[in-house]
Amino acid sequence: MSKIRLQAATEENESIILKWSNDPVTRKMSFNTMTISKKEHAKWFSFHSKSPSSRLFIAFNDQDVPIGICRFQRLNSNTWETGINLDPEYRGKRLGAIILHSACRKMKKDYADCKIIAHTRPENIPFRSIAKQAGFIETGTTSVNDQPAIELMLT
Ligand SMILES: CC(C)(COP(=O)(O)OP(=O)(O)OC[C@H]1O[C@@H](n2cnc3c(N)ncnc32)[C@H](O)[C@@H]1OP(=O)(O)O)[C@@H](O)C(=O)NCCC(=O)NCCS
Repeated sequence: MSKIRLQAATEENESIILKWSNDPVTRKMSFNTMTISKKEHAKWFSFHSKSPSSRLFIAFNDQDVPIGICRFQRLNSNTWETGINLDPEYRGKRLGAIILHSACRKMKKDYADCKIIAHTRPENIPFRSIAKQAGFIETGTTSVNDQPAIELMLT
């Protein structure tokens, strides 16, 4: 199994996160498909990298190359919402499930008994597959930004 290391995102990772975020597939799979400006991203990063209600983990491979981000945002006292985005060059290599699983395990260690949820577009088969591998179950359908979504939960 590939070895992955997770580390809290620092300013050093800010620009690569924006690059990954503006990848066309990432935008297409997001609930807000607009390209993200550098200014918008700087504001987002400055807030989420410091907020106690956010956790941003950068995943590094066994050669210490940053290959993706797994993030969590607190919705209430014991529920967090997650999202994941890999460097396009590292997709399709079965790394997503390892990263999501490791990041969720870390969250459950840091916040005992926390519940983790996710939303995805129904057509995002790769995400639905890795979420299932990481132990999520699909709990139903909903809408996000007026668009159809699948809700997933890891209890
Ligand atoms: C979603 C994502 C994290 C998945 O990680 P990954 O390491 O690329 O996933 P895998 O290589 O394990 O592929 C997962 C599954 O999707 C399948 N898959 C991959 N690309 C696919 C495609 N274009 N169409 C259909 N299936 C695809 C794989 O065959 C695999 O299927 P299996 O698990 O049934 O064998 C990654 O692709 C990504 O960063 N996507 C863009 C951002 C995104 O969509 N984030 C989630 C938002 S909710």
